[in-house]
Amino acid sequence: MRDREGLDEVEQIVANVGAAAKYRRVCPRTVQRLAAEEWARHHHLKRAIKATKSRLHQVYSAYESPVDYDRGTRLLEAAYAVGTPQAVRQACRTILALHTSTRERLPILDRFYADLYAYTGTPRTLLDLACGLNPLSHPWMGLPPGVAYHAYDIDTERIAFLDRYLALAGAEAHAHLQDILCDPPTERADVALLLKSSTCLERQRKGSTLALLDRLDVSHVVVTFPVKSLGQREKGMPEHYQHAFLEMVSGRPWPVTRFAFATELAFVVSKG
Ligand SMILES: C[S@@+](CC[C@H](N)C(=O)[O-])C[C@H]1O[C@@H](n2cnc3c(N)ncnc32)[C@H](O)[C@@H]1O
Repeated sequence: MRDREGLDEVEQIVANVGAAAKYRRVCPRTVQRLAAEEWARHHHLKRAIKATKSRLHQVYSAYESPVDYDRGTRLLEAAYAVGTPQAVRQACRTILALHTSTRERLPILDRFYADLYAYTGTPRTLLDLACGLNPLSHPWMGLPPGVAYHAYDIDTERIAFLDRYLALAGAEAHAHLQDILCDPPTERADVALLLKSSTCLERQRKGSTLALLDRLDVSHVVVTFPVKSLGQREKGMPEHYQHAFLEMVSGRPWPVTRFAFATELAFVVSKG
């Protein structure tokens, strides 16, 4: 049914959710997708709006502390003006610490990409899926000039910020505002990173990780999991994720190699 402005129910949910300051920056395709699913489930406007907001919270805000992107850009510009690797790394570390996933990766950054790329080979084209702030790990990736780096996320302001950072870093890079469930990336690449996002994607659509792995036109996919919950309790998480992930890919012919870092459990899926 349409309201006085001529909007159907899904459009009304999108308009209502989009007006909330907390969700204004989320990719419109994501809000639209969740609103359509919640309308189909509830067929009740108020309940569908509440459910859409609650799902957006799980997908998006649960991991976030507010980031002042203008301040972040000024910090990075100042570091690049100094021009030393130490100044750039220090600025990147400060910003990486603002997001749970990258903050947890800080203690292992010196080894993380070195170990993974020693196995996969240094990529000439790299996809960073559901990237969060991870592109700011670029100084630790040891990528030679000319490597194409594609980063994807659903936060408009973050993508604009990453675009500015990647230009400063002189990387051959593109930050895409792209919901990877609505539009899986089609770029051919050597390596795709799906870091600590599989659980978040599964919450949005069961089976979406495997569907994405099937679709990606890449040689290797690095899929990682946290070893602690957001509440910082261990609860046997690495064992649980390992069992669930190996079960998930068991029907595929892909070799899987495990890397157990102190704060992150990684699997390299080799699609060939
Ligand atoms: C747990 S964080 C992981 C961030 C990053 N990969 C890392 O490990 O540092 C999950 C990220 O996935 C993004 N995200 C969630 N759903 C997405 C989707 N459907 N398409 C693209 N990005 C998505 C969120 O905005 C968030 O930045």
